[in-house]
Amino acid sequence: RQAKESQKPAKRQKPMEMAGYVGFANLPNQVYRKAVKRGFEFTLMVVGASGLGKSTLVNSLFLADIYNAEQYPGPSLRAKKTVAVEETKVVLKENGVNLTLTVVDTPGFGDAIDNSNCWAPILEYVESKYEEYLTAESRVQRSTISDGRVHCCLYFIAPSGHGLQPLDIACMQSLCDKLNLVPVLAKSDTMTPDEVYLFKKQLLNEFAKHNIKLYDFPATLEDAAEECKTSQHLRSRVPFAVVGANTIVEIEGRKVRGRHYPWGVVDVENLAHCDFVALRNMVIRTHLQDLKDVTNNVHYENYRCRKLSALGLAEGQARSPPSNKNPLAQMEEEKYEHEQRVKQMEAEMEHVFEMKVKEKVQKLKDSELEMTRRHEERKQALDLQFIELDEKRREFEREKKEWEDLNHVTLEQLKRPSLSADSS
Ligand code: GTP
Repeated sequence: RQAKESQKPAKRQKPMEMAGYVGFANLPNQVYRKAVKRGFEFTLMVVGASGLGKSTLVNSLFLADIYNAEQYPGPSLRAKKTVAVEETKVVLKENGVNLTLTVVDTPGFGDAIDNSNCWAPILEYVESKYEEYLTAESRVQRSTISDGRVHCCLYFIAPSGHGLQPLDIACMQSLCDKLNLVPVLAKSDTMTPDEVYLFKKQLLNEFAKHNIKLYDFPATLEDAAEECKTSQHLRSRVPFAVVGANTIVEIEGRKVRGRHYPWGVVDVENLAHCDFVALRNMVIRTHLQDLKDVTNNVHYENYRCRKLSALGLAEGQARSPPSNKNPLAQMEEEKYEHEQRVKQMEAEMEHVFEMKVKEKVQKLKDSELEMTRRHEERKQALDLQFIELDEKRREFEREKKEWEDLNHVTLEQLKRPSLSADSS
């Protein structure tokens, strides 16, 4: 009974109102100041066939020329037939808040004749960033870990009106449980609103049919009911039908970002024209932190578990249909897997411990060497000083001798009469 009572969860205490102002209510401000001082990091990946408007959209999203000519040659120079992964890092500042934005582009995606497995370099890149983070986390010095993990991936779908291509399906399937996947319908100004509506519907059906899990923009982020409604309204626009433009055009005296056509202007920031604003609001204004949290708590955690488990539970196994093994055999198997995992974790911890000890020993050796060096320096300085003083003493002796020889009297003799006078 005692054991049962001790297992009972501790009763939640009612918060005690303070009689006066103590000051811990200022804690959020401290957190805010610290976060602003440290700045924020965000990594956005863009995947899609060449010419779908990826760079134009990224520039439109951040209202900046993220890709300048030096870092990002125009499409004509980027006719790569093998998929490469290119990073562009910029520091953006808005109202005193610094955002280190890394845009990861994948030139050459879908450009080859044979595109089988052309998403492998992308997956490798994503996992390498998780690996880097895991290594940094297991270091002794881990107070300032730079977060290069991909927080969001915008997948560009061509406005074909014919649903997903086999390459899109295969690539999205392999990416969706490694990162936050947000599909965008590129160059949606090439379709009529009805076509966009039907195409979106078809895409949603295909995502469900092919088990492609998309990033689910949570509705509960904002407290205010109004905000919730807006967020729900924006969420219903997935996959976002976007239009990118880096030119400013004038509509009825208003200057807007848009594309000018003989029959009119596409105002990129008008929700009646496209979903650009919905995408920007969701990814940057309201869900940026959630994208980072999901990356950390879900995708990175999955990677970490896979990595740390001795059997390397691959995602395929996680997805595999329930087995119809004998439950006892299954339990045995799970027990064995658990033991292997524990062993692996122990080995990892031992490794970390060994590294810590090695670092500590190295530090001690370094400080010993430093002390010996300082001691040597000090000794040399003292020796030098001694030599100088000795030199001066000899010089003085020599001068004294000269003076005595010149005056035929020694200093002792000079001192003597005065002593006898004193005594008389
Ligand atoms: P790569 O650099 O080859 O990977 O191409 P990208 O996907 O980055 O495309 P980019 O932004 O260079 O745009 C290619 C062309 O499409 C340019 O001429 C853009 O002006 C045009 N473009 C970009 N966005 C849109 C859009 O939303 N609608 C239309 N109609 N054209 C667009």
